[in-house]
Amino acid sequence: MRTNYCGAINTEYLTQTVTLYGWVHRRRDHGGVIFVDLRDREGLVQVVCDPDSAETFQTAERIRNEYVLKIIGLVRPRPEGTINANLVSGEIEVLVRTIEILNPSLTPPFMMDDDNLSESIRLEHRYLDLRRPAMQSNLRLRHKVAMAVRIFLDQHGFIDIETPILTKSTPEGARDYLVPSRVNDGHFFALPQSPQLFKQLLMVSGFDRYYQISRCFRDEDLRADRQPEFTQIDIETSFISENEIMSLMEEMIRDLFKSVNNADLPNPFPRLSYADAMLLYGSDKPDLRIPWVLTELTDVMKEVPFKVFREAAEKPNGRVAALRVPNGSSLSRKEIDDLTNFVAIYGAKGLAYIKVNDVAKGLEGLQSPILKFLTEDIINTILARTEAQDGDLIFFGADKEKIVNEALGALRNKIGHGQGHAEEGWKPLWVVDFPMFERDEEENRWQALHHPFTSPADGHEDLLESDPGKVLSKAYDMVLNGSEIGGGSIRIHRQEIQSKVLRALNISDEEAQEKFGFLLNALQYGAPPHGGIAFGLDRIITLMAGVESIRDVIAFPKTQRAQCLLTKAPNTVDEKQLKELHIRLRKTEISKG
Ligand code: AMO
Ligand code: AMP
Repeated sequence: MRTNYCGAINTEYLTQTVTLYGWVHRRRDHGGVIFVDLRDREGLVQVVCDPDSAETFQTAERIRNEYVLKIIGLVRPRPEGTINANLVSGEIEVLVRTIEILNPSLTPPFMMDDDNLSESIRLEHRYLDLRRPAMQSNLRLRHKVAMAVRIFLDQHGFIDIETPILTKSTPEGARDYLVPSRVNDGHFFALPQSPQLFKQLLMVSGFDRYYQISRCFRDEDLRADRQPEFTQIDIETSFISENEIMSLMEEMIRDLFKSVNNADLPNPFPRLSYADAMLLYGSDKPDLRIPWVLTELTDVMKEVPFKVFREAAEKPNGRVAALRVPNGSSLSRKEIDDLTNFVAIYGAKGLAYIKVNDVAKGLEGLQSPILKFLTEDIINTILARTEAQDGDLIFFGADKEKIVNEALGALRNKIGHGQGHAEEGWKPLWVVDFPMFERDEEENRWQALHHPFTSPADGHEDLLESDPGKVLSKAYDMVLNGSEIGGGSIRIHRQEIQSKVLRALNISDEEAQEKFGFLLNALQYGAPPHGGIAFGLDRIITLMAGVESIRDVIAFPKTQRAQCLLTKAPNTVDEKQLKELHIRLRKTEISKG
């Protein structure tokens, strides 16, 4: 029987005989004495094989990296000068009495303490990558977070209920992953994009408070903070107002950060309307660690000589705004060109700027390619509104509102973090008062900004037909350090309002019946007022662990191309399997030309 974990032995165990199991992290042959760093999930311990015992020494000579060993030995102090203050076991070593090789290992493709590995090598050999201490610590953090959440929710009367994975499409705005049904020719299940409709039905069933740590599947374009398969902390409650649910959920997140990270989050979280978030930060998930806001200039640009600014200001959905970068005038021409290319990703056609060398000198003290296109009055307004100081750089965005917001919002993050202007710590906030709908320009129709089961704000029902663009919703997003970690809403619990919203989305009554008939029916059997939220568990842990990629907090993630490099999924299947599923593949036409 194991007596200790390797990484947990310390001077308390001096003179004791211990039995250890672990992997060979490293073997060093010091001419006559062999040292082995033995590793298990708790860390390393130094094991010493003395040549006095011929049999153990012969075994020790055969062992290589990543062999699995059983060791029985005596805990003794390390000789003076060899103490390692970085290890729990750094003051002791284990003198081997017996050593047994439980299993050899091929030479691994990388060392477990190499921190400069390509991600594809790591993902291909994920079972080895997960041996690395950083990954062990990320997954154990994940466990702690899940436990803390479960304890909080249990203490607050939430009941864990599982909902189906083989189900019907729920619109959360992404494509579905489909699963063909063998016994129902031509029919498909969809994997859930979220348990949204089931959790609402559970409220109709009277469970009152539901939660689930649930897997969701979305076939969408992947980014650093997105996976096709991810985990939500999914929550729903009945008879509760927007404010009540928001304050309970903040309490959960505060509690979580306190218990897991010993971090104090503000109480209450600040709240910002969607409109203000866009105006001030150009983003609905602003990173409040960066202490800068955008300056609105649309109103003063309507008559300026500079055509780019004037035309943007005159457009119905146009915007001209500025971002002042304190001490930014040291940016070089090359750096500004690079930033201009960066905002081009968001559709910006340029990145006008003014360098503020000396405010007191007026025009003389400024440097910019666009001064000649502006009047002195306008320039003074710009300086006053941005509160420009000597040494600042002012960037401008002028285009459709959406492009200006995305470009300057991203620029704010890039320069803020890149040039060390971001504060330390945790900056959460709620974004509220979202519009119900956003315009899908390509398809020329309204789309739900959250999902179509979100309740309109009080008094906004009448606008659903007359002016959908003006309808606000009872939705709320929780944002932490620039990442959207959760989103939810009060739901529609009256069938007639649900039908109205679906009609506003251009979904016919027939189509609505076919897709969500079960929900529309359920709403007519005494559905209680209800609402909820879902948190992105992977994103919360990514933030807590301080890692760049969501893949580093998931045991077996997919790549940006939605593939698993370890199992090589997805893969092709044989003809027999396809036939059983009533599927014939379309052959991609091979161009002969
Ligand atoms: P929403 O779509 O906002 O809401 O999702 C909730 C939270 O889940 C996380 N998330 C993701 N994490 C990783 N990879 C993804 N592809 C991904 N997509 C979303 C985000 C997000 O805030 N049913 C509603 C919730 C509700 O209304 O109660 C929903 O799913 O952190
Ligand atoms: P131009 O007259 O096109 O050379 O532009 C003069 C300056 O305005 C350059 O610094 C451009 O980068 C910038 N610029 C051009 N279009 C825009 C735009 N839509 N928004 C912000 N700056 C722009």
